[in-house]
Order: sequence, then C-alpha cells, then structure tokens
Amino acid sequence: MRKITIAIDGYSSTGKSTVAKQLADYLGYVYVDSGAMYRAVTLYSMQNGIISKENFDVEKLKESLPSIHLKFIKEEAWNKAHIFLNGKDVENEIRNLDVSEFVSPIATIHEVRVKLVAQQQQLGLEKGVVMDGRDIGTVVFPNAELKIFMNASAPERAQRRYKELVERGETVSFNDVLKNIEDRDHIDTTREDSPLRKADGAIEIDNSDMNLDDQFHTVLQLAKDRIARR
Ligand code: DC
Repeated sequence: MRKITIAIDGYSSTGKSTVAKQLADYLGYVYVDSGAMYRAVTLYSMQNGIISKENFDVEKLKESLPSIHLKFIKEEAWNKAHIFLNGKDVENEIRNLDVSEFVSPIATIHEVRVKLVAQQQQLGLEKGVVMDGRDIGTVVFPNAELKIFMNASAPERAQRRYKELVERGETVSFNDVLKNIEDRDHIDTTREDSPLRKADGAIEIDNSDMNLDDQFHTVLQLAKDRIARR
C-alpha cells in the first residue's frame, strides 16, 4: 500500500498528539511530536540561564543551538518514542507547566525554527509519517497528502489539560492552565515566523464536542481516502 505524509496542526491542547499517535499506530506509520522538540530546546534554555521569568537571552540561545542535540528513541515498553536532549530522556520533564510557559517565546526565534524544521523534514523523508505541531502543513510538509487542522474552545482545552496535569500529580490551578493556553494561542498565532494558521487544503475538525473515538475514526477515514487515491 502506498504511504503518505499526514500533517496535523492546531491550537495547544486540542488533542492533536493523541489522534496523531493512534493514527500512526493503526497505519504502522512513524509518529513525530514536533512540539516535544520545541519543548526540549526550552528545557535546555531554562537549564542554561537562557530563559527565566526575568530574562530571555536570545543571542545566547542562537549561539547554543549547535550544542543542542535532539533524538527520538522508542523502546518496546514505551507506548511512544521519547525525546532525548543531549543523551538524556526528558520526555516527562518537558510536559511541566513551567516549560509550557516559556516554550512559545522560544518557538518565535527564527534560528530555532530553521534547525528544528530541517530535522523534522529529515524524519519525514521516508513518508509513512504522522507529524503534529503548528506549522507542519504550512512549512514542514506543505505537500503532505493529508492535512488536518484541529480546534476546540479554549475552556474545553484548558479543562482537558488541567485534568492531565492533576492526574500526573502536579499542583496547578485551572485559571493558570487557561491563561497559559490563551497566552500560547496569542503568541503562536501572531508570531512573525510560521504563525499557526490553517494550511491550504487542510481539513478543519472542531473537537469540542467529539470523543476520542469519533475523532480517530474521522481522521482515519480521511487517511484511508487519501491512501487509496492515485
Ligand atoms: O504541541 P505542544 O503544545 O507540545 O507545543 C509546544 C509549543 O511549541 C507551542 O506552544 C508552539 C510550539 N510549536 C511550534 O511553534 N511549532 C511546532 N511545529 C510545534 C510546536
């Protein structure tokens, strides 16, 4: 069966990664979480005095880029590939709310995007890939056979994210989570370089009132149609 490239973009916490992962597993495709790469660069920046509440040293970030090595590694026991930052598994650490706070400003830096987009394009060379993010259908794979744009209301997304963080044992308030989502929406959609927008030819899915099963089957049907198309 011919293999295609599937690009899934959308706002923060729309459940892109869940659907992308399910779809990749079902089709036997590789799943790439591009947001994890921006998060890992953010974690490096926090650990190396590049970004904090008081300071954002953009020049130091640019100089540090050659020292930031990212790799996805998958082991049998894990349900998805983990991201490694300079040889260390940081899959869990990058999901914390403090990383979420700084990731959007980091993702506005052109040099960061150039580096990560090049690595993402390499990962997708073979086709048979599902990648989720903000600029996959617009910049990384503008020729993807299937492009999806996911959306849901901000309070609905905040509720899902809040539940996830609480289940992981984090102490957070719903209002902080909602504010983080609204702030990220604003930065992601208004940044100069590759702002989040629906790609040409993308199919929009608002999943505010959809359960995971409905979403998966909607996207799977679209993928099957594209795979069958010559
Ligand atoms: O998908 P996520 O929430 O883990 O992404 C974290 C941040 O990374 C998001 O606020 C914007 C940025 N990002 C991006 O700019 N481009 C991508 N392709 C993926 C993520």
